[in-house]
Amino acid sequence: MARKLLLAHIDVPGINTFEVYRQKGGYRAVEKALKTMSPDDVVEEVKKSGLRGRGGAGFPTGMKWGFLAKPEGVPRYLVCNGDESEPGTFKDRFLMTHIPHALVEGMIVSSYALGANTAYIYIRGEMMPQIRIVEKAIAEAKAAGFLGKDILGTGYDLEIHVQPGGGAYICGEETALLESLEGERGNPRIKPPFPAVAGLYGCPTVVNNVESIAATVPIVNDGGEEYAKIGIERSTGTKLISAGGNLVRPGVYEIEMGLPMEEFIYSEEYCGGIANGKRLKAVVAGGSSVPILPTHLALKTAKGEPRLMTYESLADGGFVTGTAMGSGGFIAFDEDQCIVRNTLNFTRFYHHESCGQCSPCREGTGWMEKVLHKIEYGHGDMSDIDLLWDIQQKIDGNTICPLGDASAWPVASAIRHFRDEFEWHILHPEEAQTRNFGLVGE
Ligand code: NAI
Ligand code: SF4
Repeated sequence: MARKLLLAHIDVPGINTFEVYRQKGGYRAVEKALKTMSPDDVVEEVKKSGLRGRGGAGFPTGMKWGFLAKPEGVPRYLVCNGDESEPGTFKDRFLMTHIPHALVEGMIVSSYALGANTAYIYIRGEMMPQIRIVEKAIAEAKAAGFLGKDILGTGYDLEIHVQPGGGAYICGEETALLESLEGERGNPRIKPPFPAVAGLYGCPTVVNNVESIAATVPIVNDGGEEYAKIGIERSTGTKLISAGGNLVRPGVYEIEMGLPMEEFIYSEEYCGGIANGKRLKAVVAGGSSVPILPTHLALKTAKGEPRLMTYESLADGGFVTGTAMGSGGFIAFDEDQCIVRNTLNFTRFYHHESCGQCSPCREGTGWMEKVLHKIEYGHGDMSDIDLLWDIQQKIDGNTICPLGDASAWPVASAIRHFRDEFEWHILHPEEAQTRNFGLVGE
């Protein structure tokens, strides 16, 4: 059985309450950090752990914390990004629903490490139940003396505020999130400056994902070196994966980094194989922003090695024969699924969610949607495939924020790996919407 750090007590009745969470050893990390460690000691442990940002970018958390500017007399903020909106990703929602105190405890430990006395948890506006659950957990922690003034008599003060999100995918981009938190429209800012230097209200700010913040609890409890013993290479610790699509057992799983993807899909401990006895056609391993992989590349890298669930192995082959860990939003497609239709679906989403600030994204996502719609509904011609390729190339790398890139990569990988399906739609317009396409090469 794989080790569980975040979901170890998921099956304990009442683990969402302060009382039961505390009985199971909760808030030990706060006691340890505030009473026996300096803020720099906590930062050091997080650096040693090798923890990388679990929201999708995989940036080393300890390094990000190390970048935080500390000008005299200027407040610093910790902002938790709980805006989770990536299609296919629902692991933060799961964590906040079932173990909200893991997030609150992580917020206290992380705020202490960063020298922040005010912290915010920005939760996707549509997640009203989770907003209420986290607010209740904060109130319980405060009533028990773990928040507010002079926490545990250590002289450290902290208030945590919950902010419902603005109801747009782009508000999950960290600088758009900060704009939204300030009461502005959620438009991404140009980086640099990074939030670590000029973030909320122009002050130094660390923005971390829900899962990253919760992971600081086992890191403080057991030490960064223990955490780093789990996993492979620069992919340490455990990772929450939200598994959806045509699987026997979709759901949220905590895996040890380094698990072979084949085992994740087929073993009884995890997804239990493809639903209805079908064959696997393709996977999206890290949320809709990452390239889609056909089965042969999902299970083995281009070098013929088993594809592991690590940042390095998933990225092996770059975006030509590899993909990315992203936010851990795993989607499995069975042999009956249509890649053109799926790509249209993703592209429609990005077009709808583009904030419109930069032309390649604003115009390009809409243009790609139109071309894909044309192909899917039997009005395409062969030159449309090259046109699509050309548009995605012009978006990729030419926009203010990663939404533009995220819209380009699924299109590029769909054409690269499933060009025959695009061609079939164009050559057989009457059948294209009803045909089951099978696997690559059939
Ligand atoms: P990024 O790579 O630009 O930044 C990662 C983090 O490191 C940021 O917090 C940034 O401020 C910090 N950073 C990077 N260089 C720095 C420097 N020199 N100094 C100080 N700080 C620095 O990526 P970003 O925009 O944060 O995330 C993009 C990813 O988010 C995508 O790859 C996608 O997988 C994921 N995503 C996740 C969603 C979700 O619902 N979980 C939704 C949409 C995207
Ligand atoms: Fe807005 Fe798209 Fe530009 Fe991001 S890439 S700033 S979402 S227009």
